[in-house]
Amino acid sequence: MEALARSLDDLGTYFSTYGAATFATDEPVYDDICQMIAADADLLALLGAHDRDAQQPNLILNAVKYLLSAGAHHPLGAVYDGRRDPAVGDLFRDFVLTNSAAIDELLRSRRTQTNEVGRSALLTLGMAHIAKRVNAPLAWVDLGTSAGLNLMIDKFRTTWTTATASRSAGPADSAVQLRCEMLNGVLPEIDEFPEIPWRVGIDRAPLDVSRHQDRRWLEACVWPSRHDRAERLSAAISIAAESPPDVRPVDVADIAPVLAEAPQDAHLVVTSTWVWYYLADGVRSTAVEALAGAGRPVTLLSLEGQGVISSVPVPEMPQLLPEAASVLATSDFSEARDRRDEFLGWAHPHGQWADWGAIV
Ligand SMILES: C[S@@+](CC[C@H](N)C(=O)[O-])C[C@H]1O[C@@H](n2cnc3c(N)ncnc32)[C@H](O)[C@@H]1O
Repeated sequence: MEALARSLDDLGTYFSTYGAATFATDEPVYDDICQMIAADADLLALLGAHDRDAQQPNLILNAVKYLLSAGAHHPLGAVYDGRRDPAVGDLFRDFVLTNSAAIDELLRSRRTQTNEVGRSALLTLGMAHIAKRVNAPLAWVDLGTSAGLNLMIDKFRTTWTTATASRSAGPADSAVQLRCEMLNGVLPEIDEFPEIPWRVGIDRAPLDVSRHQDRRWLEACVWPSRHDRAERLSAAISIAAESPPDVRPVDVADIAPVLAEAPQDAHLVVTSTWVWYYLADGVRSTAVEALAGAGRPVTLLSLEGQGVISSVPVPEMPQLLPEAASVLATSDFSEARDRRDEFLGWAHPHGQWADWGAIV
């Protein structure tokens, strides 16, 4: 994201467009709230006093959910618990204006750090695809890893389904059970996870699941009606608490020394699941320079919104897919600094389905 200030009109348009594209299908209450904010001078003024990163629409939604979960009493809590109320926008507005000091503080101190383990079902498809192509074990750096929960992909049970069949991988008794519908009707040939002997997550502000406040922030980043997501998050947190993933406080701009640590006898894969979107242009180009200059082949595996990694050749989206579909892609950097981008498929941003064209 760029650093230039936004006008309040632009901010309103941003909330309205983002709300419709992101929430209309999966969390309509959040779309209603975004549309209310887009047209409300007081809330736009509150947001307008913050920097661009803090104006990312999920952040104020997360901040409100965080304060409600801390015990703030307000009728909005009942709506988040499932009571229908057409006046949800008014309730949200009232909550924010009544708690504006606490909201301002969260907008200053927190960022959206949704750690969505459903994405592991898609990461596994991508990792298996890469492992098959390079025929070697993988060394893995996960960018913007949040609490590092997706580094634990092989501790989760993942089931890919079609209308008539299914295929699973991972421990059958795992507390995290993921399902991903393969819309093209083809099951991936994955019985075992690719071999990943070395893996590290980096984040500019990693969340630590042993800290109560960080667990609560992770929970606040889950949309209110998505109890399935909240349950699998809580299960993944329990697994991470027993055996914490290797997560380091490193900015993506400083990735080069982490890449240099990766063992040479494995193919280096760097993943970005809804992280590139949040990076400033300068950080993106520094990261690309580090990948291209790693002195070894590197594959960037990404799950991002359309156009976020602009060099990926994205075909026209099939009409039946929702507007919010994300793009799964690989970008291969050779030792000679050549780059080759490959579109792998469309996917639900949280891993519910994939419309996958590549071979696994
Ligand atoms: C939306 S979350 C996605 C988390 C995780 N990749 C997932 O898919 O569950 C974005 C993450 O990127 C991190 N992030 C944003 N900018 C970063 C930067 N410049 N360097 C490192 N991490 C960054 C944030 O702290 C946050 O944890």
